[in-house]
Amino acid sequence: MCKAAHEKQSTLSVIDKDFTILYNNKKEVCKLSEQIVIVYILVIGNNRFAMKNGKVGGAIVAAKEISMAVIKRLPKYYRNLGELLEKQVERISSKELSERMQVTASQIRQDLNNFGGFGQQGYGYNVEYLYTEIGKILGLTRKYHMIVIGAGNLGQAIANYTDFEKLGFVLECMFDQKESLIGTEIRGVKIADVSELEEYMKHHAVDIAAITIPKDHAPELAASLVKWGARAIWNFAPTDLHLPEEVKVENVHLADSLMRLSYSIKKE
Ligand code: NAI
Repeated sequence: MCKAAHEKQSTLSVIDKDFTILYNNKKEVCKLSEQIVIVYILVIGNNRFAMKNGKVGGAIVAAKEISMAVIKRLPKYYRNLGELLEKQVERISSKELSERMQVTASQIRQDLNNFGGFGQQGYGYNVEYLYTEIGKILGLTRKYHMIVIGAGNLGQAIANYTDFEKLGFVLECMFDQKESLIGTEIRGVKIADVSELEEYMKHHAVDIAAITIPKDHAPELAASLVKWGARAIWNFAPTDLHLPEEVKVENVHLADSLMRLSYSIKKE
C-alpha cells in the first residue's frame, strides 16, 4: 500500500478560498456550446480594474456566468503568461498577447472582461498579476491529490512527467494488477495492488484518478472510483464513461488530435 501522504479529513478541510468553479460534467461539456457554467470569483480589487504597480486594493466577490469556451481558453493564457514571466516580461498589451497566442485582441479583452478585466488602458496587462489571477480562476492555488490506475507505458509516462506536480497535481500512488509491477516505484511513486484501491480511498482523499488501463475494464473501474469518492476522472482509455453529473471527467485522446492532423494534411 502507498504511504499515507494525506489524511482524508485534513484534505477535505482545505477549501478553495478564492473561488468555486462549478463545471458541468463531461457529457454536458460535449454539448456545451450553448450552455454556461457559473463561476464565482473572489476578485482582489474592484470591477473597474483599479490596478497600481500590479496590485489592487480592496476585495469584492463577483458572481459571473462564464461560458465553457472561455474556461477552455484559460489554460492557454496561463501557459503563455507563464512563459512571459520566465522571460521576465512585466507587462504586455492585448495586441502583443494576441499575436503571441494567435487569438484576436478583442477576443482577449472579451475573455478577460469576464473576470473583471485585469487590464488598464494605456498600460496593458501586468503579466504576473494576470498569471496569478488566472491561476486562481483555474484552481491552481492548491494541491490536488492524484492517483493513476494502470502503471503500464502510459501510466509510467504520466508518473515520469514532473511538470504536472509543478502545477499542483501531485501523484501519490499508482495501482496495477500485474505482479511484476506491484511493489515497484516510478520516480518514487509506489505501485500498489489494484485490489487495495478501495481501502486506499477510504483513507486518502483522491481528487483526480487517472485511468490508464485497457478500455474493456475502464467503465467498471470508473464507476468504482466514483463510488469510493473520486471527484474527477482523467480518462485515457478510449471509451466513453457514463458517470453521475457531479463527477468531472476529462477525456484525453491523442488519437483524436492525430486524426485532426490527418484530416488537415490528407490528399484529396
Ligand atoms: P499497457 O499495457 O502498457 O498498460 C496497461 C496497464 O494496465 C498494465 O500494466 C496492466 O497490467 C494494467 N491493467 C490492466 N487492467 C487493469 C485493471 N483492471 N486494474 C489495474 N491495472 C490494470 O498499456 P498502455 O499503452 O499504457 O495503455 C493504457 C491505456 O491507455 C489503454 O486503454 C490505451 O488504449 C490507452 N492509451 C490512451 C492514449 C490516449 O491518448 N488517450 C494514448 C496511449 C494509450
